[in-house]
Amino acid sequence: MSIFKKIGLGLLASLVVIQFIRPEKNQLPITSDQQLSSRYPIPDSVNRILQKACMDCHSNNSRYPWYASIQPIAWWLDEHIRDGKKHLNFDEYTHRSLRYQYHKMEETIEMVKEEEMPLPSYTWTHTEARLTKAERIAITQWAQSVMDTMKQRYPADSLVKPRKS
Ligand code: HEC
Repeated sequence: MSIFKKIGLGLLASLVVIQFIRPEKNQLPITSDQQLSSRYPIPDSVNRILQKACMDCHSNNSRYPWYASIQPIAWWLDEHIRDGKKHLNFDEYTHRSLRYQYHKMEETIEMVKEEEMPLPSYTWTHTEARLTKAERIAITQWAQSVMDTMKQRYPADSLVKPRKS
């Protein structure tokens, strides 16, 4: 057998083997009083946009496409979900500090305005998540309204670190 055939067979065998090593799916039980929506209402129109464009990576419940069962794609997706959740998780939100909650809304506005979110590698396959200008405005206005609600409810220095003079 030629060396190339041996390498080829070796690769094929490892491709088969890794199909059995699957990352755990991001489909966890929800603690509803930790969800952002438990404290700050999300209008249906905004919720629909968040569901289709953000929640696969920023919640405890991802929808998986068929190719997510194929390795090494599953690992690659898993990495994005883990990383996304580490930065922002709408299902684990209200138990975090007020400063954290406030700041994450600031970041949401920034990321959506600058078209950094949803990730381009995601919209490439999820065409419905390619946001229109109106959809981007809907998200940023909603995030701003969450910040405004927080400003009404809590003292300013609990939301933003006071500047040292
Ligand atoms: C395919 C997965 C994916 C999708 C979909 C996605 N994100 Fe992200 N998001 C990430 C990852 C990964 C990071 C962390 C790395 C980075 O900042 O690029 C992140 C980071 C963030 C951050 C935090 C930035 C920071 O500085 O910590 C915010 C806010 C955010 N995303 C908002 C959104 C919003 C809003 C949507 C929907 C419009 C969205 N994301 C859709 C994966 C995703």
